[in-house]
Formats: sequence, structure tokens, C-alpha cells
Amino acid sequence: MDKLIIEGKRRLTGRVKVSGAKNGAIAMMPACLLAAGTATLHNVPNLRDVWTMTRLMTEMGAFCELNENELFVDTRNVDSWEAPYEHVKQMRASFYVLGPLVARFGKAKVSLPGGCAWGPRPVDLHLKGLEKLGVEIDVKNGYVHAEAKNLRGGKFHFDISSVGATGNVMMAAVKARGTTQLTNAAIEPEITALARFLCKMGAKIDGIGTSTITIEGVDELKLVDESVIPDRIEAATYLIAAAMTQGSVELTNANPYHLTSVISKLEESGAKLDINPERILIEMSGRPQPVNITTAVYPGFPTDVQAQWIAYMTQAEGSSRVKDNIYTDRFKHVPEINRLGANIEIDGNTATISGPSELDGAQVMSADLRASAALVLAGLVAEGRTEVSRIYHLDRGYEDLEAKLRKLGADIARKQDKHEPETAIAS
Ligand code: EPZ
Repeated sequence: MDKLIIEGKRRLTGRVKVSGAKNGAIAMMPACLLAAGTATLHNVPNLRDVWTMTRLMTEMGAFCELNENELFVDTRNVDSWEAPYEHVKQMRASFYVLGPLVARFGKAKVSLPGGCAWGPRPVDLHLKGLEKLGVEIDVKNGYVHAEAKNLRGGKFHFDISSVGATGNVMMAAVKARGTTQLTNAAIEPEITALARFLCKMGAKIDGIGTSTITIEGVDELKLVDESVIPDRIEAATYLIAAAMTQGSVELTNANPYHLTSVISKLEESGAKLDINPERILIEMSGRPQPVNITTAVYPGFPTDVQAQWIAYMTQAEGSSRVKDNIYTDRFKHVPEINRLGANIEIDGNTATISGPSELDGAQVMSADLRASAALVLAGLVAEGRTEVSRIYHLDRGYEDLEAKLRKLGADIARKQDKHEPETAIAS
């Protein structure tokens, strides 16, 4: 079990290359199960969640080989339609194989995702959407048993815009007989990229990028090579790290169009951003202004950047509020940031941050992926040494984080943590 040791108070400067999107790759990989063939996915981030998905697909009979950021997939010998609890408990997104398996085999047995650090995360919309396509769903012994004797098009309205449910239902509908219409579908860039990938494989999807998607089922799909989009959450994390340390950082391989809400809030806080399709340059001189945010579905402010923004606002000249409307209880990072000397109060789904705080290094513990990123950011501006433990959470979603930060001038190192046994918590 590893931990990160950070000596704070270093200004970040230089260039950093953003990796492919974790949430993009683990949405596209199950799509490869829809057809028997081979393909290479490019710009795949080399990180734990991708390894977990490759292990699950390998267990089903696929051959997956990740070389740096190239993932070769061979699904010709996939012969299992089961996703066991052992895999799904490590990563909720393993549940995304349900739709593709039903579409390919007419049946699937997929473990229900386990608990999550921030309260209930049901999959009812995934199941209701599939039922609209004629899938019979039976949930027993912790597993979803799905059977589709006659997968047919249908209409489904998502009560809540859900990334995962949109992806799962869309991946089944592309092979359903007839037309499917999905309304209030998610329009996150990772879902738009998934839809484009499916179309390259031969699917017929209209309304991509809008919340109303119309899918004409086809009999055959063919695996094709594709590139994963840049990781907008990783990019946002580095932009905030630069602003927090009053630095000057250039991001390459990022897509600024996927970051409009984050960029506008950074500008509101006083950061200077110079943007062109090739790179995003951020410069910050002085402390940020307090800026309130409320999370929302895309293109609103992402819930996956909420924790990093709270860490940032501890340095602001004044008080700010951060409200999470997607996950109302996603504040496990707050007591840990307060251990560094911040002054953050939680009331329901709103955090109030009183700044500026002079943070002092301390030992802190990660509870989930983005919470751990926020602790690292706080450690970068804290006086002295901060130890962030349980960083297996961080490794799930950030590729080479400490190497990239060191390249920007941070004093950060990974050490073995003899005090912490390895346990996996899904998110
Ligand atoms: C995706 O999770 C991301 N994960 C999450 O990122 C991200 O926080 C989330 O979208 C929201 O943007 C991946 O892409 C792998 P949802 P997902 O279904 O698909 C409710 C990270 O840090 N809901 O859009 O699980 C749900 O409880 C991770 O990289 C239902 O009620 O999220 C939540 O309140 C963490 N029933 C809301 O919808 C359902 O069947 C949005 O969830 C499904 C969802």
C-alpha cells in the first residue's frame, strides 16, 4: 500500500500532457464486446480502472493487451456473459457490460455494484431502460439476470440524466430490432464519444450530443480502431493545481471545449487563461477570489471537480459555497482538508469554505478518487510535509500523477505505507 509525501509551497510551472479519459476508456471497452473482432484503442490511460476492465473482459474470453497507451482488444473468443461480483465490487463501471452482453448473447448475468463511499448509487435506470427494449430482468442473490428473447426498439425517458444508464441502454439498443428513442439522455463528452465509436462500428444513432437520441438497430457491428478523448477531469485537476500554487502551467492534449464551465469559474476566480486548440495556458498571480459553484450534468460544473474546487477555495480571499446536486453526500475530503487547517463546514449538500487559510502539512487519508486528488492539491499549498494515504483510490483515475506534478516543480514522492492494508472500495 502506497502513500504520497508532499513538501508544499512550491509554485507549479511548465508543461503537462493530459491523458486519455478514464471515463471515456471504460465506456468504450465494453462496447467492444458487441462484436467479434479485433481493434486497437489509442490514447488509453494506463491506470487501475482500465486494468480492472481488461481483467473482467479477459475473464469473459477476450484478449486485451495494454502497451503504454495502446489497448489491443480481441473479442472473437468471448464466450461468457457473466460479470462476477469479484470484479464489479472493485469498479461500479464494470456494470456497463450488461447492455453489450445482452445485445451479443441475448442474456447476461452481472453482479449488482456494491456500496459507494458517498451513499446510494442505484442502477434502476439501467434496468428500466433495458426492460423497455424487451429485456427480462430478474435481480436475485446480488446479481442481475437479464434475458432478451426478442431485443426490440422502444422509447425510454431517463428520470435523471445518467451517464452510465445512457451508455448501457444505448449499447443494447444498437442491436435491437427497430427504433429506440432515448430522452433526457446524458450528453457528457464520454457518452458522445461512445456514440461516435458505435457509429464507426456500424451503428445508426441520431441526435448524438443532444439529450434525445434515436437509434436504428442493426444486425451486425464491426470492431474498429478509435482514440479515447482527453480526460477533462484530469485537465481540470491540473488547472486548479496551477491556480492554487499561483503558477504558470501549459496543458497539452486537452480539449478546452469540454472544460467551459471549469474555465469560466477559474477566470472568475482571477486566473488568466490563454486557450487554443493545441493547448491551455493558465497563469495565476496572487490569491483567488471566492467563487461559488453548483454541480450539474454536462455542460454544467462537474461533480468530479467539486472536491478539487473546495481545496482551491481554501486559498480564496473570503467565503465561498460549493453545492453538489449530483451526489449530495460527496464530502469525504472535507474533514481531511480541515485537518490541514482549513475552515470548511458542511450543511446538507453544501460546503461553506472560509478563506484564506494557511494550511499546514499533516497526515490525511483518501476515501475516494477525486477526494484524494483534492488532498494532493491541498498538500501542494500547505506549509511543510503532507502524507496522503490510501492512494490506491488516486491510482484508479490518474495516470502518473506524481511524475507529472514533479515535472511541474512539485516536491512529491510515493512511499510504501506499512500501516495500511490494501482494501478496494468501488466508486
Ligand atoms: C459517471 O458515473 C462517472 N463514472 C462518475 O465519475 C461521475 O461522477 C458521474 O458519471 C456523474 O458525472 C464513470 O463514467 C465511470 P450517473 P455514473 O449514472 O454513470 C443517479 C469519477 O470520479 N442514478 O450519471 O455512475 C445517481 O445516483 C466517477 O471518475 C440513479 O438514480 O453516474 C446520481 O445521483 C465517480 N439511477 C445520478 O443519477 C441510476 O440507474 C448521476 O449518476 C443511475 C444513476
